[in-house]
Amino acid sequence: MKKIITAIILLHSIISLSAQNKFAAEKSLLATINNNFTDAAAQYKLLKQQLPEGKFPKTYFPTTGKYEWSGSGWWCSGFYPGTLLKLYTQTKDTVLYNEAQRMLQLLKKEQYNTTTHDLGFMMYCSFGTDNSIQSSATDQQILLNSAKSLSTRFSPTVGCIKSWDGKPGEYLVIIDNMMNLELLFWATKTSGDSSYYKIAVQHANTTMQNHFRKDYSSYHVLNYNAATGAVIEKKTAQGYANESAWARGQAWGLYGYTEVYRETKDKKYLAQANHIAQFILKNPHLPADGVPYWDYNAPDIPHALRDASAAAIMASALLELCTYADKKNAALYFKTAEKILKTLSTSTYKAAAGSNGGFILQHGVGHMPNKTEVDVPLTYGDYYFVEAMIRYKKLTGK
Ligand code: GLY
Repeated sequence: MKKIITAIILLHSIISLSAQNKFAAEKSLLATINNNFTDAAAQYKLLKQQLPEGKFPKTYFPTTGKYEWSGSGWWCSGFYPGTLLKLYTQTKDTVLYNEAQRMLQLLKKEQYNTTTHDLGFMMYCSFGTDNSIQSSATDQQILLNSAKSLSTRFSPTVGCIKSWDGKPGEYLVIIDNMMNLELLFWATKTSGDSSYYKIAVQHANTTMQNHFRKDYSSYHVLNYNAATGAVIEKKTAQGYANESAWARGQAWGLYGYTEVYRETKDKKYLAQANHIAQFILKNPHLPADGVPYWDYNAPDIPHALRDASAAAIMASALLELCTYADKKNAALYFKTAEKILKTLSTSTYKAAAGSNGGFILQHGVGHMPNKTEVDVPLTYGDYYFVEAMIRYKKLTGK
């Protein structure tokens, strides 16, 4: 009996040792990451000083020194408080925490907003992060109300949550919408009401069926017939062309299906996330440093602009997906995420202290076809960069 117990303990130690080795941290990258948190905290204090009363940061134009702000209804409103809170967990700097709490007060009215599909981004990245730091009945009620508001946009006929309120006869769903499902999964776990879970799973299934091409790249926008659920059009809004692979859209899909696998443990979503990862990582147009051009089919590659926000989302997603993947893919995903984090930490992407209007990353592309937010900092680029660095530390046991 004693021998069996000793053997079990030995086996357990070998398994946990190899799990640790699988995701061994690079010491120099860890040092860089810790330094990045300190620098990012200083940058966000600068941003805080510039922020007009009642407004949320949107972007900054380095060439003119002008900012763009938004109200709480803009899809990005949760990223600034979310980033402050994530940075607080790393720095314990209460200036960041208090600023986040001030912003949450401005944001909370959006819990009743039924005109947007972006409530997951807006509320889960902010109130969800706050609730994860310290469990709060107030945050939980706000999140449940937000999930309820988001659910009103679901059509059982289409099998999707409506993204944009288009013209009559349009039922527009964008790949980005995969990111809003986390709020619904959380709502079922917290309330015990399975309707949120069912909506999230149905949305993921419909999107998996219709949004992807044979090579597992995705369209940006699908237009459904609201009365029958038939697909009418497959097109783009923010990408180069209807048949191109918009970089951030691919990153949203990767992150989204990784998250759906986490919540359901259904292997078909893991397979989907792996396929998307392979499309991205084997893409001949993905630069060696891991930061994609704004569209994998941009006509002016290799002179096309890069999108740091897509890279940050990819890094964060890969640092989760690597924990579910087989050994070979796990190593590939982990190493790729490391490479992206290193690239984003260089002076090419990480802003010098006091520059970039206080944002952390430079060179994001918001909406190229509209010529808006082109080659600028973006709140979501910062948010997922900070999230990815925290994930890296946690994964490597630091
Ligand atoms: N529509 C959200 C994004 O620009 O990624």
